[in-house]
Amino acid sequence: MTLILNKNDVASVLKMKDCINVVENAFLELANGTAVLPLRTNIPAPDGISLYMPAYLKEMGALACKLVTVYKNNPGKHNLPVVIGKVLVQDPETGDVVCIMDGGFLTAVRTGAASGVATKYLAREDKNQVAGIFGTGVQARMQLLAVCEVRDITKALVYDISDEAAENFTKEMGEELGIEIIKVNDPDDILEADIICAATSSPTPIFDGKKVKEGTHINGIGSHTPNARELDADIIIRSKLIGDSKEACFNEAGDIMIPLSDGLIKESHYYADLGEIVSGKKEARKNDKEITLFKSNGLAIQDTATAKLVYDKAVEAGIGTEIMI
Ligand SMILES: NC(=O)c1ccc[n+]([C@@H]2O[C@H](COP(=O)([O-])OP(=O)(O)OC[C@H]3O[C@@H](n4cnc5c(N)ncnc54)[C@H](O)[C@@H]3O)[C@@H](O)[C@H]2O)c1
Repeated sequence: MTLILNKNDVASVLKMKDCINVVENAFLELANGTAVLPLRTNIPAPDGISLYMPAYLKEMGALACKLVTVYKNNPGKHNLPVVIGKVLVQDPETGDVVCIMDGGFLTAVRTGAASGVATKYLAREDKNQVAGIFGTGVQARMQLLAVCEVRDITKALVYDISDEAAENFTKEMGEELGIEIIKVNDPDDILEADIICAATSSPTPIFDGKKVKEGTHINGIGSHTPNARELDADIIIRSKLIGDSKEACFNEAGDIMIPLSDGLIKESHYYADLGEIVSGKKEARKNDKEITLFKSNGLAIQDTATAKLVYDKAVEAGIGTEIMI
C-alpha cells in the first residue's frame, strides 16, 4: 500500500521544531559520511525544467526523492502554479515507494529548518534579540518561525518591495508568534537586527553590506542561480561564510559565484559546510563581533529527512489515503 498525503495532511503533522531536529541530524550525517547525496538531475522540458532530488540517510533510515518542476507558463496555460513539488518516500529495506506527499509546504519548512540549524550554531546567544526579514513571501514566514524557535526573539523588522505582502505578513505572523512585528519602509532599517534573513525573489543585491553591524548573523536563502544574487560582495567579504554545501555554493549561488568571478574573493574565503559546524569539526562563532553568514541552496537531505518525519507522524496519526498501486 502507498500512502497519499496532500498539502493539508503534511501541514497538520509538520512542525518547525521537529523539522529543525531532523534537518540538524541530516547535516550531521552528511558531515559524518552516512548520507548519500547525488547531484541533482535537471531535465529541460519544452515549457520548463524538471528537477530530481534524491537522498539516503542511513542512520535515519530515510530514503526519498523530491520531484520539482518549474513551468513558467503553468498559471496562464493550465491554471497551475509555476513550481510544483512532490516527494516519493521509499522503504530502505525493500525499496518500495510507501508514500507520495505534496512537497510545497515541506520545502518551505525544511528551508526554514536549515536556517534554524545555522542560527542555532552561529548566531549570538543574547536574550531579547531582533530579527530582520527581507521578503515576506512563503519562505520568509518559515525563516522567521525557525529563528524564533532557536533564539529569544522579541521583535521582528520586515521589508518587502510589495507593501501589501508586507502588511499581510506583519498581521498574520504577529498573530501566530505573539511578538512585535514592524514593517519598515527603508531596507537600511532591517540592518539594526541581530539576525537577518534574506528570503526574496530579487536577482540583485537587496541591502548595502557595508552597513551591516558587527555580530550579526545572516541567513541567505533566495536567488540561488549563478547570475542572480540578493547579497552584495561587501557582505560576502565581511562575513565568515558557511554554506549548506560548498559544491552547491560554487556551482549554483550567484551570491558567491559573482564576487568570485569578479576576483573579490578567493575560493578559500568559504569557511565551512553547515555539517562541519554541527559535527564540531569546525569552530562556529568565535566572538560577538564576527558577522556569520549561512548561504542556503537547498539540499535533498533536508527534503528526505523532513519527508520521513512527515510519513512517520502521518502513520502514527492515521491520516492520509492508502491506495494499492
Ligand atoms: N534555499 C532554498 O532551499 C530555497 C528553497 C525554496 C525557495 N528558495 C528561494 O527563496 C526565495 C523566496 O521564495 P518564496 O517562495 O518566498 O517567493 P515569494 O514570491 O513567495 O516571495 C518573495 C518575496 O520577495 C519580495 N521581494 C522581491 N525583491 C525584493 C527586494 N529587493 N527587497 C525586498 N523584498 C523583495 C517579493 O515582493 C515577494 O514578496 C526565492 O528566491 C526562491 O527561489 C530557496
